[in-house]
Amino acid sequence: MEFYQFTERLKRSSVEKNPEFASAYGIRHLINAGQLTPELVDQFCRNADLIRKLSANRETANRLRGLLSHRRAMLYFTQPSTRTFLSFMAACQILGLTCNEVRDPRTSSEVKRESHMDGIRMFSSYFDVIIMRTPSPQLAESCAYLMNDLASLGKRWVPIINAGSGSDEHPTQALLDVYTLKRTFQFTDKAGSLSRFADLRRINPRLEQGLERKTYTFCGDIGRGRTVRSLATLLAQYRNVRMIFVAPPQPSLQLDQRLRETLVQSGVDVLTADSLEAIVDGGPLLEQTDCLYMTRIQREHNSELDTQEIDGTDLSPFQLTAERANRLPEWAAILHPFPRDSVVREIPESVDLNPRAMYFRQARNGMWARAALLTHIFGAESELQTLAD
Ligand code: NCD
Repeated sequence: MEFYQFTERLKRSSVEKNPEFASAYGIRHLINAGQLTPELVDQFCRNADLIRKLSANRETANRLRGLLSHRRAMLYFTQPSTRTFLSFMAACQILGLTCNEVRDPRTSSEVKRESHMDGIRMFSSYFDVIIMRTPSPQLAESCAYLMNDLASLGKRWVPIINAGSGSDEHPTQALLDVYTLKRTFQFTDKAGSLSRFADLRRINPRLEQGLERKTYTFCGDIGRGRTVRSLATLLAQYRNVRMIFVAPPQPSLQLDQRLRETLVQSGVDVLTADSLEAIVDGGPLLEQTDCLYMTRIQREHNSELDTQEIDGTDLSPFQLTAERANRLPEWAAILHPFPRDSVVREIPESVDLNPRAMYFRQARNGMWARAALLTHIFGAESELQTLAD
């Protein structure tokens, strides 16, 4: 095992590990969603809004491109990616960072049996941040330890951003999901007026703005979906949150014990269901859901047996039809990290025009949220602020 020198560190709980990924002003390396706090998220969301605003105008967009124009980013993506890769690249372009990529390890010295650790250290010689997506669950974390060890020896190190590590974690997706939810749950209309919130309060007088006091329903591949794990961990930090996990019967697709325990310990009311049509707490699940987070079955993690079993399973209870989408409350948000599966069709195109469908906006929000994260990592937040003044 190539991460042998970090085995002991990798085994620890995230509470023990996370201080090592922190900097004096917040985040040094972003490895897991547990590092994000509601305060940091608020800060990132404000900066994402600011970057969005500045980008809309030629003159301010030009100034924004000067913010990190002296920095270079390495996008090391050896697992398929469209949105995460492109939105990171667009985020770099917005802030003026130059970026380079390795997407196919066959074109790097990995074919000459170079270790990941040597490869990453080489990237750190040429670039100022490494953004990485790999099939291996602990590689980004191990790279962060490597960088910390180099830092403590007084050698050159760079920040590591985990852009998806196996079936483990995807913290920047959780950040953009929460950014989308925060915008959606302001319940304002396009012009920013609160009259929509007032209308919704007439239907549900207990409705509140923000992420607290909400029911989040996650549907699909709960066990192997890294986006679910990261988002649930982050949302668990908000008060009075209920989560319902809806998954097919195969144990590998269901909520695992470790995540359940983490959520329960954080005070989340955790429920499970076997269909979107299920009755929970005496009422239809759909009618109680404020956010429906749909996911695809992660077939790339299947064993041969999984494939046989899943192919023989009726997945219609986990499919959001147009009719089911209409049974969600009027204020509900439908999210999906994408890609959606065009064969299983967990969200058919007929749902796309439903006003609750936020998934295309969610993907675009990834660009602003990731730009805000890069601004933070490079300590350029106050300079960003001055661009707006
Ligand atoms: C997700 C991923 O790669 O984990 N996609 C993404 O980053 N937007 C979800 C998935 O692949 O199902």
